Amino acid sequence: MSVVALVPAAGRGERLGAGVPKALVPVRGEPLLVHAVRGLLASGCVQRVVVAAPLSDVDTMVGVLASAGADALVVPGGPSRTQSVRLALHAAMADVPDATVVLVHDAARAFTPAGLVRSVVERVNSGSPAVIPVLPVADTIKRVDAHGVVAATPDRADLRIVQTPQGFRLDVLRRAYDAYPDDTTTDDAGLVERLGVGIDTVPGDPHAMKITTRFDLAVAEAVLG
Ligand code: C5P
Repeated sequence: MSVVALVPAAGRGERLGAGVPKALVPVRGEPLLVHAVRGLLASGCVQRVVVAAPLSDVDTMVGVLASAGADALVVPGGPSRTQSVRLALHAAMADVPDATVVLVHDAARAFTPAGLVRSVVERVNSGSPAVIPVLPVADTIKRVDAHGVVAATPDRADLRIVQTPQGFRLDVLRRAYDAYPDDTTTDDAGLVERLGVGIDTVPGDPHAMKITTRFDLAVAEAVLG
């Protein structure tokens, strides 16, 4: 049972304001992408990592991964995250025809512990069609209307923060991507959910935080790695 991991990294990452794709922003001397690919491989249960890169940065990403010794197949991404995942999925299926499990990760979660990757894969291998790592919500969350007026206060005991890697039986993710070809989701489990497939959860990890802002980058420099 081979496991492939997809890393959509074809966005510009403008919120970080670094002037380069977010995946190439260095933390502790190496790009986020290198940390992310290394973490997936360090789990010992991922046979192939496929990175979707911005068209203009394919060669750069191939170069930084090769010089760091982080083995991955780099393919050009598409105009949306969904398209990038779809292209990476097809490349992974061609490269590893016997793959049965697929992880979808995020280069911005560069310091995801290898143990979290393993726990997602183990859960899929033990029969779950779809698995996501989650954390409890510490803050109270409000739903607001278009004017910023509070419309509802969901019970935070029922809410979870979703991390990656999200793990799927490969046929299930493929079916979701075939069923919703134009979707622009940022959450692959959401697509699978729409198929009516149950999504299981495993405990996430604070080190799998998403690096989105300069503040997050400072946290990563100070705490992670
Ligand atoms: O920009 P946003 O945070 O929504 O992007 C989420 C992830 O999807 C990022 O890792 C980004 O690199 C990736 N992405 C992609 N192809 C795109 C747009 C975003 O792989 N065309």
